[in-house]
Amino acid sequence: MATILLSPLSVFWLKTPLAILLTLIPCFVFSLTLESDIQVLHNIREAIDPNSISSTSFLSTWNFKTDPCESTGPHFLGILCTIPEDNSSNRIAVIDLEGDGLEGFLTPTIGNLTELTILNLRKNKFRGPIPNTISMFRKITKLLLSQNFFSGGLPDGLNKVKSLENIDLSHNRLSGSIPAKISVLRSLSDLRLSNNEFSGKIPDLSGLWQLNTLDLSSNQLYGTLPHLPKNLRTLLLSHNVISGHVSYLRRFQHLKTLDLSDNRFSGLIEKDLLTLPEIGRINLSANLFTTIEVIKFTDRPSQLQLLDAHNNRLHGHLPLQLVTYENLRAIYLGHNLLFGRIPVEYGVKLDFWRILFLEYNFLEGTVPKEFINSAKRIRGSLAHNCLHCPGNINLCHGGQRAPSECIGQNSRDHS
Ligand SMILES: *[C@@H]1O[C@H](CO)[C@@H](O)[C@H](O)[C@H]1NC(C)=O
Ligand SMILES: *[C@@H]1O[C@H](CO)[C@@H](O)[C@H](O)[C@H]1NC(C)=O
Ligand SMILES: *[C@@H]1O[C@H](CO)[C@@H](O)[C@H](O)[C@H]1NC(C)=O
Repeated sequence: MATILLSPLSVFWLKTPLAILLTLIPCFVFSLTLESDIQVLHNIREAIDPNSISSTSFLSTWNFKTDPCESTGPHFLGILCTIPEDNSSNRIAVIDLEGDGLEGFLTPTIGNLTELTILNLRKNKFRGPIPNTISMFRKITKLLLSQNFFSGGLPDGLNKVKSLENIDLSHNRLSGSIPAKISVLRSLSDLRLSNNEFSGKIPDLSGLWQLNTLDLSSNQLYGTLPHLPKNLRTLLLSHNVISGHVSYLRRFQHLKTLDLSDNRFSGLIEKDLLTLPEIGRINLSANLFTTIEVIKFTDRPSQLQLLDAHNNRLHGHLPLQLVTYENLRAIYLGHNLLFGRIPVEYGVKLDFWRILFLEYNFLEGTVPKEFINSAKRIRGSLAHNCLHCPGNINLCHGGQRAPSECIGQNSRDHS
């Protein structure tokens, strides 16, 4: 009897460990997350002020009782893992804690996540330096740390991360200069360092031949326009103290958006800038430009939709040929030294134009008759000129200059 009773039991006990092994090995043992990656996730959490971790944040779901890469349900949100090809460990590939409300530091051990491809910590309150250990990343393509309080300079280690395609460090408190060495990052297509405290000259960036977008606006950069990669589509340098001429930009045949506003650029706004084949938006306001050159646009449809050159020192007549830019809708030429009459051709375009600001110039004479009928559809101003501008037209609200300001304006501005 004993043997009868014993044998099914012994078979059971013999089989069980085998069964456990068979089911556990493929699911758990082979796919566990690398221990040191888990340690880094711990370190990330420890460097965050616990009071800033709200119950709705992804970081609050980091429950270290489960394996980060094997978690189910609402655990370990905000991370993605690599799928190992063999029986090696899972690695952390993506960390996305954007807008999580986190306050604290970024742990230097982050560099140990050598398989990371995307690090997105945008819109938090991280402070302190960007750790130099980011130099250890070997696969990262997107480093997105904008809208935090990171301070200090660009870490030297950044120039070792050759896999980077997309760097967004805008809206932080970063300072120091932009190192010339950054052009070693040949894969970069998008570089955004705006709204920081970077100073000095912009280095030669022409080596970044894949670069599409360069945003260095709202810093304290000075000097003249640097050498830039010729495939640029978006160039944003507003709110700096950059000076000199802009004729160099005529070689940027792919440029779509150009914002150089609030700098010290001077001289001529060349005709070639407005006729760039793909240019759609140009903002040159708040500079020291003195002349705008506009030629008749004929060869192909112009893409230009917006031209803002207000608040410069532009003199001469209103550029008549603007009417040949068939997609142009918004024109800002106020706060300059323009004089003479408003061309009758402008009147004909009023059905199409949406925005026309010409205030604070020295324009004179009567306004074309179309202004009286179209004035409701168009947003803009003709105020503070030397015009006969009927008060019942919205565009004329604000009044004109006193006659004493208008005498001899033409001859003065030719000098
Ligand atoms: C990170 O890597 C360094 C060097 O390989 C090692 O000494 C350290 O223990 C690692 N840290 C963690 C948290 O894994
Ligand atoms: C899988 O793990 C075993 C035991 O650790 C090892 O001997 C083997 O080489 C590994 N196979 C691969 C493809 O890495
Ligand atoms: C052009 O730039 C100035 C200064 O940066 C800004 O205030 C203005 O809104 C911009 N113009 C347009 C049309 O966006």
